[in-house]
Amino acid sequence: MKKTDWRKDRTRVKALLKSENAQGEVFVQGWLRTVRRSKGVVFLALNDGSCLDSLQIVVAEDSAAFTAAGQLGTGACIGVRGELVASPGGGQSWEVQAGQITVYGETDEAFPLQKKRHSFEFLRSISHLRPRTNAFGAVFRVRSRIAHAVHCFFQERDFIYVHTPIITTNDCEGAGEMFRVTTLDPANPPSVDGRIAWHEDFFGSKAGLTVSGQLQAELFATAFTDVYTFGPTFRAENSNTSRHASEFWMIEPEVAFADLAVNCQLAEGFFRFMVEYALEHCQEDLEFFNKFVDKGLIARLQKVAGTAFQTMSYTEAIERLQKCGQNFDFPVVWGCDLQSEHERYLTEQIVGGPLFVTDYPEGIKAFYMRSNDDGKTVAAMDLLVPKVGEIIGGSQREERLDMLQHKMRAFDILPESLDWYLDTRRWGNCPHAGFGLGFERFLMYVTGMENVRDVIPFPRTPGNARF
Ligand code: 4AD
Ligand code: MG
Repeated sequence: MKKTDWRKDRTRVKALLKSENAQGEVFVQGWLRTVRRSKGVVFLALNDGSCLDSLQIVVAEDSAAFTAAGQLGTGACIGVRGELVASPGGGQSWEVQAGQITVYGETDEAFPLQKKRHSFEFLRSISHLRPRTNAFGAVFRVRSRIAHAVHCFFQERDFIYVHTPIITTNDCEGAGEMFRVTTLDPANPPSVDGRIAWHEDFFGSKAGLTVSGQLQAELFATAFTDVYTFGPTFRAENSNTSRHASEFWMIEPEVAFADLAVNCQLAEGFFRFMVEYALEHCQEDLEFFNKFVDKGLIARLQKVAGTAFQTMSYTEAIERLQKCGQNFDFPVVWGCDLQSEHERYLTEQIVGGPLFVTDYPEGIKAFYMRSNDDGKTVAAMDLLVPKVGEIIGGSQREERLDMLQHKMRAFDILPESLDWYLDTRRWGNCPHAGFGLGFERFLMYVTGMENVRDVIPFPRTPGNARF
């Protein structure tokens, strides 16, 4: 193996910008955001993704690098050796006076990210390059830190992290939105009596990509008490909205010895921890979003970190919506699924902050939710937040075997197909509850970005799986 010294003595831009003293010679590597030529001097803005700000590189006329620097363009990849000195110009404390420049990758005028503001929509069409912009640098740094925060929260509280399967033969939510996983020949699948013989498929039955890790998390909760999953989930819903992706990440805690109230407390504590974590660990990037994307962002996050969430039953929510005098596109009647416009009105206009809506009609929720004594509703909860709407969905689970079997039949689910799930209700059963937080929805909330496609590196939506 050939050994290079490309990284030898390298310092990241973030560390240099935080320097307390001048440092003599330093070595930095990164990509040029701008190149500005002035009389007898070239200014380069070098970014390596470690932080929002770029490092100013000053190449004076008497530097050996001056001619090379004059030919560099926006987007080029270089390494710079030079002195870190206090910057006389405004705008930055430190700059590097370049001695030597190594060009790793050149560029030309066709590079799409020239210095001007581009629409998020245009940047989506160049998802392979958009991480090199300020906005997407900030988005993906926040995404990385918040993913870490998820593990901090649960690990500090003794939850076990479960890797639930991505390929599965059961549709947890029962909404029929699974992507098929098959090795059968689509042009000539085996068939019996005119129907596809799924038992001849790779897994011996009809399989797909998971829509949720919940059912398997429930199994683990009956051994480890408190568990969580955090992984990709897939939904083949053909809804082209700014909040739905076909592939998204979900965090699903599942806790034994818990009812709906405990579930809501856990969700509120988790949500607040994540917001506080972002305020503390992503300050510079949040300030960027607050300035350029969503002016009230930081104040809103600070307020959420400091106030208790409100709770309202579905029935009360329906009454409040019916009385509010607002004209909705979808009529509000008891038994209807709340639409995004209703959810946003409740959280934005009626409550002005996060809101748990609980006890939904059983017909609009999944089979595994615990039936309430009224015979009409289930122990479900959704957390709604301003600007995003539904961000968490959860419930207390139906732990009574007979009730669960009855419910499955009513939902057209063969109890035999989930015999392993029912076994937990047979042996060592306990009341338990859990919820799912959409990771991208949370990132939208915490960054102010308005489209789910702009908080996931390479979005998958109907008609689009490019990159
Ligand atoms: O409400 P959902 O469908 O709940 C479940 O999947 C349960 N099994 C969770 C549980 O109890 N363990 O989805 C949970 C959350 C939603 O509130 C939303 O934030 C997010 O997942 N979500 C989506 N995010 C982006 N794109 C989509 N298509 C989403 N569908 C759901
Ligand atoms: Mg839901």
